[in-house]
Amino acid sequence: MCGIVGVIGKKNPAKIIIQGLEKLEYRGYDSAGIFVTGKNKQDYLVKSKGRIKELKAKLPQEINGEIGIGHTRWATHGRPSELNAHPHTSEDNRFVLVHNGVIQNFEEVKAKYLTNYTLKGDTDTEIVVQLIDHFVLTEKLTTKEAFRKTLAIIEGSYAFALVDKEEPDVIYVAKNKSPLLIGLGKNFNVICSDAMAMIEETKRFVEIADQELVTVWADAIQIEDAKGNLVRRESYEAQLTLNDIEKGTYPYYMLKEIDDQPAVMRKLIQAYSNNQQELTISQEIVTDILNSDRIYIVACGTSWHAGWVGKQMLEQYTSTPVEVHLASEFGYNMPILAKKPFFIFLSQSGETADSRQVLVKINELTYPSLTITNAAGSTLSREAKHTLLLHAGPEIAVASTKAYTAQIAVLAIVAKVIGEAKGNLKALNIDLVHELSMVAQAMEVLISRKEVLEEYAQTYLEDTRNAFYIGRGIDYYVSMEAALKLKEISYIQAEGFAAGELKHGTIALIEEGTPVLGIITDANIASHTRSNLQEVETRGAHTLIISMSGVEKATDQLVLPKVHPMLTALVSVVPCQLLAYYATLQRGYDVDKPRNLAKSVTVE
Ligand code: AGP
Ligand code: GLU
Repeated sequence: MCGIVGVIGKKNPAKIIIQGLEKLEYRGYDSAGIFVTGKNKQDYLVKSKGRIKELKAKLPQEINGEIGIGHTRWATHGRPSELNAHPHTSEDNRFVLVHNGVIQNFEEVKAKYLTNYTLKGDTDTEIVVQLIDHFVLTEKLTTKEAFRKTLAIIEGSYAFALVDKEEPDVIYVAKNKSPLLIGLGKNFNVICSDAMAMIEETKRFVEIADQELVTVWADAIQIEDAKGNLVRRESYEAQLTLNDIEKGTYPYYMLKEIDDQPAVMRKLIQAYSNNQQELTISQEIVTDILNSDRIYIVACGTSWHAGWVGKQMLEQYTSTPVEVHLASEFGYNMPILAKKPFFIFLSQSGETADSRQVLVKINELTYPSLTITNAAGSTLSREAKHTLLLHAGPEIAVASTKAYTAQIAVLAIVAKVIGEAKGNLKALNIDLVHELSMVAQAMEVLISRKEVLEEYAQTYLEDTRNAFYIGRGIDYYVSMEAALKLKEISYIQAEGFAAGELKHGTIALIEEGTPVLGIITDANIASHTRSNLQEVETRGAHTLIISMSGVEKATDQLVLPKVHPMLTALVSVVPCQLLAYYATLQRGYDVDKPRNLAKSVTVE
């Protein structure tokens, strides 16, 4: 959560910072701020509640300087307000700091060191900038020494960028658990939470490890570990183009990302095929999974929903039992593990703090792990034993769409490869390359029928307070995802429910006109789900049935092109994504940036 950018050694840093913040706005958008200074010692601190456009409107016409930092916030401590927006300044205004993360011991630090300070706002961050100031003043430390001492005292997660107005040719940065990168330029350098923010300036980046302190000048950087030892690290080239991160003619990223899905399916076939057109994954992953007696999938939100579909595929093709866990629960309530567990972390961003805290524990226990992520080089990717990439291209809308389908497709590939290695007949018999191509085609058909979904959104969802998605088996797992999509952007209270479970209590919520959307793709359970839909209709529900060709009835509102039974989730989720998209538009909300949320959830 939260986006940080900084630049040093370039003319007009404010412009670069604002452009960078706009690209990072998906990470948090309740308030924003910018600080610029330079050799002429003139400085500008501008903050605003709300979006970057509100910050932009407040900027002076001309901002002179060569160095600056910026922040777009997702508040954890202190309400979103101009006062609590970053950058934060020390009492004497000498030090200026932006922060991504949470300082867990900020109350203790305040009580121990800062009783003489009058704090300006309510954030945990402000404690840090005052503490640096305190050490510089009372112990006569240099800024870097005071920063290092502060880092040793604070606990929690952070990415910091610090400017000392008395040293207007350097930015100090440090990180622990929250992401931060240094971008290298010719006589300038930049910092950013995500390479995409600075891709217009440079493609060369250097990673920072947890607890390192980096001094960034215009023409050099110096990395030191927590003890002050120098660290050498090679830079890498980010595989990202401006095209990847722009929405082009689309009104919203979410719609572009829904439309990207057929191409992502094809990209995955290509990325995971060998010269003989067979799907493969690295032999080390295969060996580790074959050596395990139980697979644990750990994830949050949409990724967790993809995990449920993955469980079904992995169990059917590999005959290895699979458990699916919410990372935020697993962390402190670990189940009794099998003798030889194998862990799969599903995370689009690769930065989700809840998942990461589980991975840290798993690594301590030395169990093998695989991260399936869209972000090469992300924390979860670096820290797991193995990584498989989603190849979905940047996903910028807060509501995850193409990452969900990519996760399911990669899990299908893993299930197929492991199943084959085990000699499982179902795995041997499926031509997954062909079946995934069929999925891509089916997705295209649905995407070309957007106006139908727009109309259904209007008829079923425009004025409702709540809605239900129901299904059985894989259709139930998709129902959970469909409901999350709807609630997180349209604010309709939506539940994804196991169709057979409704009558055990929840059916009491069905009133005249309550929308109930049924997903039916599996012939074995179709008649049961239809009965459940009948039950709610009898009680006044407004039902919409999404069925798959082969199990459809003439009265069903939407019939999906037929795909392999193991892959139906990849297709049935598409109309649900579109329904959520159109319902949100019709209700007048921001599709890409729903309230209270952020794309990358880097706090526990
Ligand atoms: C869903 O649309 C997302 N808003 C959210 O649930 C997301 O899937 C979750 O935070 C996990 O993120 P990750 O895949 O990046 O770990
Ligand atoms: N904890 C800090 C705050 O609430 C930083 C939040 C963020 O990462 O945006 O201001």
